[in-house]
Amino acid sequence: MLRVGIAGLGFMGRIHYKYWKALEGADVAAICDANPNIEEDVKRTVGNIGDAEDAIDFASLQLYTDFEKMLSDGKLDAISLTLPTYLHADYSAKALAAGVNVLCEKPMALNAQDCERMVDEAKRSGKVLQIGHCVRFWPEYAKAKEIVDSGEYGKVIAATFQRLGAPPTWSIDNWFLDEKRSGGMTLDLHIHDTDFVQYLFGRPSAVCSFAAKGAGGALVHIVTQYLYDDDKVVTAEGGWAMMPAFGFEMSFNIVMEKATIVYDLTREPAFKVCPAEGEAITPEVEKEDGWFLQIAHFAKAIQGEKVKPITTLEESRDSVKIVAAEKESARKKEKVWIA
Ligand SMILES: NC(=O)c1ccc[n+]([C@@H]2O[C@H](COP(=O)([O-])OP(=O)(O)OC[C@H]3O[C@@H](n4cnc5c(N)ncnc54)[C@H](O)[C@@H]3O)[C@@H](O)[C@H]2O)c1
Repeated sequence: MLRVGIAGLGFMGRIHYKYWKALEGADVAAICDANPNIEEDVKRTVGNIGDAEDAIDFASLQLYTDFEKMLSDGKLDAISLTLPTYLHADYSAKALAAGVNVLCEKPMALNAQDCERMVDEAKRSGKVLQIGHCVRFWPEYAKAKEIVDSGEYGKVIAATFQRLGAPPTWSIDNWFLDEKRSGGMTLDLHIHDTDFVQYLFGRPSAVCSFAAKGAGGALVHIVTQYLYDDDKVVTAEGGWAMMPAFGFEMSFNIVMEKATIVYDLTREPAFKVCPAEGEAITPEVEKEDGWFLQIAHFAKAIQGEKVKPITTLEESRDSVKIVAAEKESARKKEKVWIA
C-alpha cells in the first residue's frame, strides 16, 4: 500500500485527496496544511471549477502544520504538493531530498531558474517528480493528441484553444491575485493550454500575444499565436475576467486536412470528429477525468512500472518559459522568440 501525504489542503489538495482515496493500492496517511483550523475550514466551499472534497476522514490520518515534520515523521512514499505556486520549488526540493516522490501541481514554479532547480533535485534524488499538467491526461485532449499523432486525417492546418473563468478568489489570503506569488492568470490558468499546444506541436519558435490588463496592470485576458516553422495557425485564449455567473469553460477546435476535431462542453455532443465526408463521430474516451488519470499514472511510475512519458520535467519547465515569453510579447506588443 502506497503511503501518500498531501501538502496544502485547499481546492486542489481536496481534489487530490478524493482521487488518491479512489485509487486502489494507495492511502492518504498524512496531510499538512499551515492553517491550524483546517479541519473546521475544510467545510468551506472552495474552487470555481468543480466540487472539491469536503468529506476528509481526519481520524484515519496524521495531520501536520509543519511540512518538514510531515516529511520526517510520515514514512511517506509520495506526496501531492498542492501548495500555492510560490512554494512549489522549495517544497518539492525538500521532499525529494527527503527521499519522497512528488506530484507537484502546475505551474512547475514561478520561473525557469526555479524549474531547473527542481529538475536537478529530482535527478540527484533519483525520485519521481511529476508536474500536474492534468490537461495532457484529460480524456478528450488525450484522444485529440492520439488522433493528430496518428496522421489519419492528414496535417493540422489550424488549432485554437480556450480557457475562461471568473477570478480565483477562494484562497484564504488571495494569493492567486498576487502576480508575485501565482504568476498571474497567464501562469496559473492559461498555462494549461500553452502546455497542451507544446504537447501537440512541440516548442513554438516564437509567440505573439495581446493581453487586456486588470487592476494594478495585471494581465487578465490573453490571446496568443504560437508560431511554428510551417504555416499552421495555432492560437490560445485564456482569461479570468469573466463574471461569476459565466462559470468555467475550456474548449478547442483542431482543423486538419481531412477532419475537424471539436471539444466544447456547451455543445451536444461536446466532443466530436467531423470527417471530410459523412456524419460526425464521437470517439470513445477514458471514463475517469484527467486529475484521476494523472494520479494513477504517477502511482505506476513510483512503483517502477514502465509508463509512457506523458509529461516531462523539461517540457513542464518549457511551458513556464513559453508563458514568460507570452507575457513579454503582450507587454512589448511584439513577437518574442523562444530561447
Ligand atoms: N490542475 C488544476 O486544474 C489546478 C486547479 C486549481 C489550482 N491548481 C494549482 O494548485 C496549487 C494550489 O492551488 P489551490 O487552488 O489548491 O490553492 P488554495 O489556496 O485553495 O490552497 C492552498 C493551501 O495551502 C496551504 N498552505 C499555504 N502555505 C502553506 C505552507 N507553508 N505549508 C502548508 N500548507 C500551506 C493553505 O492553507 C491552503 O489550504 C496552485 O499551484 C494552483 O495553480 C491547479
